[in-house]
Amino acid sequence: LSEGPLQGVKVVLTAGPTREAIDPVRFISNRSSGKMGYALAGALRALGAQVTLLSGPTNLPAPPGVTRIEIETAEQLLEQSLAAARIADVFIGAAAVADYRVEAPATEKIKKNEAKMAISLARNPDIIAQVREAYPQLFIVGFAAETEKLEEHALGKLKRKKLDMIAANWVGNGRAFDRDENALSVYWHGGAQELAQADKTRIARELAALIAQRYAAKKS
Ligand code: C5P
Repeated sequence: LSEGPLQGVKVVLTAGPTREAIDPVRFISNRSSGKMGYALAGALRALGAQVTLLSGPTNLPAPPGVTRIEIETAEQLLEQSLAAARIADVFIGAAAVADYRVEAPATEKIKKNEAKMAISLARNPDIIAQVREAYPQLFIVGFAAETEKLEEHALGKLKRKKLDMIAANWVGNGRAFDRDENALSVYWHGGAQELAQADKTRIARELAALIAQRYAAKKS
């Protein structure tokens, strides 16, 4: 690995779901498997990058040569992201961060007494947006999982979160989440590329090559 377009480049990548505790035994989460993020971590490593993977709970082994830090909640992911990104060149947000956390998790297991119950939720921080605020020079790549208006929503996020690149995919109806295959529409300022349906390992290699290309273009 002494060569490759990302030789010596420090990459921080978030992947997998977050878990937001309801009580000591229950949580809110989502169907993210972490497969896309883990495959991308491996592909970036293969191009020579030094990769730190900040991962929510998954069943996946850490790709060889990648440093993994495990987190559960969005707030833990934010803290680790800000710390790790401080010395990074590239930050990639592939995690499916829970948009809301339980406002006041119970300290004891909740008993089933009432016929109905309500849980109050609070907005989670937007990690990728906060990383951008903290580190204006960083090359930042986001993901957008959409069930409608893919391009419009992806371009909106590219601008709003001040990203350098965004990889968008259709979700719902069994697409992408917890699947072995994916297709991506990748956008950056002044360009776009479609990565056709393929297994996530192959899509990850193509996306890693594109990231290397755009990163080099921004630096020069
Ligand atoms: O706004 P939306 O959640 O669709 O944006 C997706 C992108 O933002 C992904 O890159 C995701 O990892 C990141 N994100 C984040 N923190 C959140 C929500 C999303 O970093 N709280």
